Amino acid sequence: MTAAATDREALAGLRTVVFDAYGTLFDVGAASACCRDRLGDQADALSVLWRAKQLEYTWLRSLRGDYVDFWHVTGEALDHAMATFGLDDALLRSRLMELYFALRAYPEVPGVLHDLKAARLRTGILSNGSVSMLVGAVQSAGVQELLTEIISADAAGIYKPHPRVYELAVQRFALPAEKIVFVSANAWDVAGAARFGFRVIWVARSGGRLDRLPGEPVATIGSLAELPALLAEPVAVAAGQ
Ligand code: LAC
Repeated sequence: MTAAATDREALAGLRTVVFDAYGTLFDVGAASACCRDRLGDQADALSVLWRAKQLEYTWLRSLRGDYVDFWHVTGEALDHAMATFGLDDALLRSRLMELYFALRAYPEVPGVLHDLKAARLRTGILSNGSVSMLVGAVQSAGVQELLTEIISADAAGIYKPHPRVYELAVQRFALPAEKIVFVSANAWDVAGAARFGFRVIWVARSGGRLDRLPGEPVATIGSLAELPALLAEPVAVAAGQ
């Protein structure tokens, strides 16, 4: 059996697809890239440190039992990154945060969500992002009509990969974990979600690698554009025709 056939077999009959947001649907490098006029050749390095600190702070705050929402954490991480690069510029900070609030979606996202909805799949977001951030990004991408649920870690008061966050999707969709497909480009999130019990698809953009952590994806794709072929059974079948 081909790898694709094995992947499809592992995902057969699953009709609910939940996406990680930042790095999966939305491009975390886009905010800095839009400020290249001001950042010059520091743009990419600032973006990488900003993202690394943002995630590090979510994990440390979860361990400390010291939760604040993702917007606050994103701002603190940006402050650290800007100070590291010697950038003391309130206007630039404000511009970067505004861009992050309406973070650019990857180009394939609207088409993929449209195709999944056309195939009668339920779709959602499960993200560390605060509700207002997620609504901002979803509305900016014009895909709010294509998503059944938007679920924020805010409701759990702790960050991924804590199981209480993944459990939010089980509650919201009223499905056991093994009936939910979870899609993420973040290897640590892939491992945590798979360990929790979701059927996980890893979006291995730019040749990343999985972390040495318990929890394996059932399929790996290079772009979200591959999802409909993997998940969306022909509508005729889905309608029982
Ligand atoms: C999210 C980031 C952490 O949860 O990937 O959307």
